[in-house]
Amino acid sequence: MNRIRRIAETIQEKQNITLEELRKLLETEDAEGMEELFAAARKTAQSIYGNRIYIRGLIEFSNYCKNDCYYCGIRRSNENAQRYRLTKEQIVSCCREGYALGFRTFVLQSGEDLYFTDDRICEIVSEIRNRFPDCAITLSLGEKEKESYRKYFEAGADRYLLRHETADEAHYRKLHPPELSLKHRLQCLWDLKEIGYQTGCGFMVGSPGQTIETLYEDLQLIRELQPHMVGIGPFIPQHDTPFAKEKAGTLERTLRLLAIIRLMHPHVLLPATTALGTIHPMGREKGILAGANVVMPNLSPVSVRKKYELYDNKICTGDEAAECRFCLQKKIEKIGFRIDVSRGDYPE
Ligand code: 5AD
Ligand code: FES
Repeated sequence: MNRIRRIAETIQEKQNITLEELRKLLETEDAEGMEELFAAARKTAQSIYGNRIYIRGLIEFSNYCKNDCYYCGIRRSNENAQRYRLTKEQIVSCCREGYALGFRTFVLQSGEDLYFTDDRICEIVSEIRNRFPDCAITLSLGEKEKESYRKYFEAGADRYLLRHETADEAHYRKLHPPELSLKHRLQCLWDLKEIGYQTGCGFMVGSPGQTIETLYEDLQLIRELQPHMVGIGPFIPQHDTPFAKEKAGTLERTLRLLAIIRLMHPHVLLPATTALGTIHPMGREKGILAGANVVMPNLSPVSVRKKYELYDNKICTGDEAAECRFCLQKKIEKIGFRIDVSRGDYPE
């Protein structure tokens, strides 16, 4: 049997990976072996989810951020970012449009914007909860106190996305200014799980300073945390950040990691991200063929899309929500999958 195929099977059996196996999978030039890796991951996803790909409507409601992460286009020091905030009415109106298009999960994402106090967040969450009782509400607002997370949960939020970015201390310090710490970020993730959120962590592929060793730590962290969702996508430089001149992560490495994560965590909700679609026109389709089972098209008003520029050349910034919805449906059907318009909760 092919060497790569054997490694894929071992990962699946042990639901674990060794550093050497990871190195082999990330460094091999065996193209046929890679097809087998992707096929194994795809089969694993299909054994649980069939041909269904879940869709989530992403609403980027504020690009103000008090943080200064070196990789991110909406970092506070970026004076060229045109800042905006949506009102509660605008957010609800995005949901209404999304609901009509079949979305049953809304992902509310923003920078760490101090304007949105706990009371304001809870007000928005309650409003969406009351108006759309059959929808899941996912928050992605960064690091907060446990009490705040609890309030949002009680107001009706179901899920929370907080990428850990890297599980390696030294690498974390390369990506973030000193006031941010890996320790606090991980504490947030454990708090979220304990409160009862379906929780998502994740990282960028190819961020400056990332190595096979740090990726191995990421995989071990995911194994320990057992999140319900894992968001990964390539790092893409943004021209107004300290990492403007760094190299982007690659399509190939992102696909390999998606497949590995699928094999280690058969049930996990794994998006084919917009960043993946940005580095290659078929990126999201290839992601699905490597084991991803979620897509998150944008529901933000077109007038603000371009301003939520975490990285350069982000796709779909000129398209209406409906255009993205149907464009993605076409792409997904072309590769033999179909969109599922249910809430798409983590299977218990
Ligand atoms: N390239 C790719 N992804 C990025 N993110 C932030 N900046 C970039 C970038 N330059 C990701 C981070 C963050 C998520 C919302 O977007 O992982 O958690
Ligand atoms: Fe937005 Fe294709 S998904 S235009």
